[in-house]
Amino acid sequence: MFTMLHSQQADGYKLWLKYDKIENSELLNEYAEIVSSIYFKDDNDILKNAKKEFSLALPQMLNKQVKYSSNISSDNSLIVDVYENLPNDLKDLVGNDIEVLTDEGFIIKSLTYKKKSITIISAKKNIGILYATFRFLHLMQTHKKLKSIDLVDSPKVDLRMLNHWDNLDRSVERGYAGFSLWNWQKLPEYIDQRYIDYARANASIGINSTVLTNVNANALVLTPMYLEKVEALANVFRGYGIKVYLTARFSAPIEIGNLETSDPLNPEVEKWWSNKVAEIYKRIPDFGGFLVKANSEGQPGPQNYGRNHVDGANMMATALKPFGGNVIWRAFVYSEHDDTDRAKQAYDEFLPYDGKFKDNVLVQVKNGAIDFQPREPFHPMFGAMKKTPLVIEFQITQEYLGFSSHLVFLPKLFEEVLDSDTYQKGKGSTVAKVIDGSLYGNTLSGIAGVANIGTDLNWTGHPFAQANWYGFGRLAWDPDLSSEKIADEWLRATYSNNQDFIEPVKNLMLTSREAVVNYMNPLGLHHIFDTGHHYGPGPWVDNLGRPDWNPVYYHQADANGIGFDRTPSGSNATEQYASYLEKTFNDINTIPEEYLLWFHHVPWDYKLQNGNTLWDGIALKYQEGVNDVTHMIQTWDNAKPYLNDSEYNEVKMLLQIQLKEAKWWRDACLLYFQTFSKKELPEGVEKPTQSLEYYKSLKFPFAPGIRPQWD
Ligand code: GCU
Repeated sequence: MFTMLHSQQADGYKLWLKYDKIENSELLNEYAEIVSSIYFKDDNDILKNAKKEFSLALPQMLNKQVKYSSNISSDNSLIVDVYENLPNDLKDLVGNDIEVLTDEGFIIKSLTYKKKSITIISAKKNIGILYATFRFLHLMQTHKKLKSIDLVDSPKVDLRMLNHWDNLDRSVERGYAGFSLWNWQKLPEYIDQRYIDYARANASIGINSTVLTNVNANALVLTPMYLEKVEALANVFRGYGIKVYLTARFSAPIEIGNLETSDPLNPEVEKWWSNKVAEIYKRIPDFGGFLVKANSEGQPGPQNYGRNHVDGANMMATALKPFGGNVIWRAFVYSEHDDTDRAKQAYDEFLPYDGKFKDNVLVQVKNGAIDFQPREPFHPMFGAMKKTPLVIEFQITQEYLGFSSHLVFLPKLFEEVLDSDTYQKGKGSTVAKVIDGSLYGNTLSGIAGVANIGTDLNWTGHPFAQANWYGFGRLAWDPDLSSEKIADEWLRATYSNNQDFIEPVKNLMLTSREAVVNYMNPLGLHHIFDTGHHYGPGPWVDNLGRPDWNPVYYHQADANGIGFDRTPSGSNATEQYASYLEKTFNDINTIPEEYLLWFHHVPWDYKLQNGNTLWDGIALKYQEGVNDVTHMIQTWDNAKPYLNDSEYNEVKMLLQIQLKEAKWWRDACLLYFQTFSKKELPEGVEKPTQSLEYYKSLKFPFAPGIRPQWD
């Protein structure tokens, strides 16, 4: 029994690359025929890794060894090679499809060659072959017909990046899945198998860049002591098409360079960065560049020297340019010396710089204007900043969405943001089009996700949090993919292809995001989390160092009502959106109700669309969230026959925690808001079992993701 459980749990390590045996005999025969004789050229690291994946996956799925041949001949059932190596008659057959590919794209095609049916996998470059390999295997894993396949695919976004908020002491800021994967002590000599499996997983979904270190950066990572370790990681990742980036602490010239200043316009400082960059490229010729958090939440930056973001970013861009590197400059800024609505500050600060950054600078903007809340309207910089490539930053780790104990399928959130219409170039100017560069014709494009990965056996803490990593990668590849398709793919590759399992569990996933909005932040409420660690509710918190760190700043509850007035009678943040949206958001009759309290301060007895008063509506939403989790548990219980004990139990235990915490959110928030509304809870809302004082007294020194505080 013990051994069985043990090995079942270890299955979580394999992520969506399980390669289970195909039981359906018809499919098995079809696949076996397609791979009966393979030509697979592997004369470099990337192709070797691709072929290795074939050799791992096919025998497991087909339950037999496969045969490789050393030459292309009409006997091959499957030919895998880059276009330029193909014989001319094959080139003629696929040439048109290859032409439309980007350097990372690929084709997988069935065709008739020398009167025989064959399948061909080809691409312009080796990396395309690696991506095609993973896709081909995934299609088998998810039981798709391959007999007359005609797939031509390229990523729509250039930089598909994970941002690790990993500290050099191996703690992970906002990490809920153990410690950092990067074992600095054993590197560079010891290459943990995890690095390889991490790279495989990323390549399988098309992620091509990784930032190894926290945006709250430590300059030491730029010293030789660490760079030799970074180099070792880069050497592993290169074989999977992944470039390494580092976070650059703006004050590094002082801290590790013995200079007296980090002023970006000081020639000594410029020289220091140029030398540092040259030193890095000597070790890592394909180094990606720097991600920089400057003059934000206490991080040093150009403003310390009376300079601005353009001065800082361009100085680094100049150093990186000769080597082909990029600067990714974050726009997550809000100042303690500015009492403007925090939601407005990044736009106000960055819009004047549009067009002033060098061409290897990208500005990275969080999906919403506050901070990765369960729901935010899209950040108004998207679409407004027309001449600067913007990278959208999503948070895959669930800082504000239940850590790794809540099941929340984030592609639903990502999709909502990407599909949002900015109207900045007329109707249809979606965030996705801003990001993939098509709206304004940017030459560089990028999507970043703050990773939810750590040393936990299953990488992400919650088994379903793997779906968020997976889904992030898929959407970075194609921002137009539907969350429904992603959930379907992931469930099939991870758990089962049985339709009776897929349908209800997929539905559970797709509704899970709205559930967390309901039980945490319904109707546009936001940032009412407890201090620092952000674990659980803290709408009453009002004693933090600066106003915009306090939940009371965001909900503005008083005897009259609740919500942040961002219309012209309040902060006028709505003016940062295109005029159609500005009007829609300003008018309480047209504002989508899910953003109501984000933009309006609304009386407690205001009538919602369904006829309920606002107070009743808020209370019922909290209750709905709790009910949603109860339904999720029922669905999971019904799925038990399709799961092994370990798979069933781990999610069941986590769902129970989620239910307990959903009730905690409901009770704590409603008791607190009731002190303003002075109204009874409506029928259908369960009565809290504890007092408000009890909820206020709770302390969580053990909350992960932040340094523990016991006082
Ligand atoms: C949030 C988060 C911080 C993080 C910051 C950032 O505020 O709580 O831990 O450093 O975002 O994105 O820079």
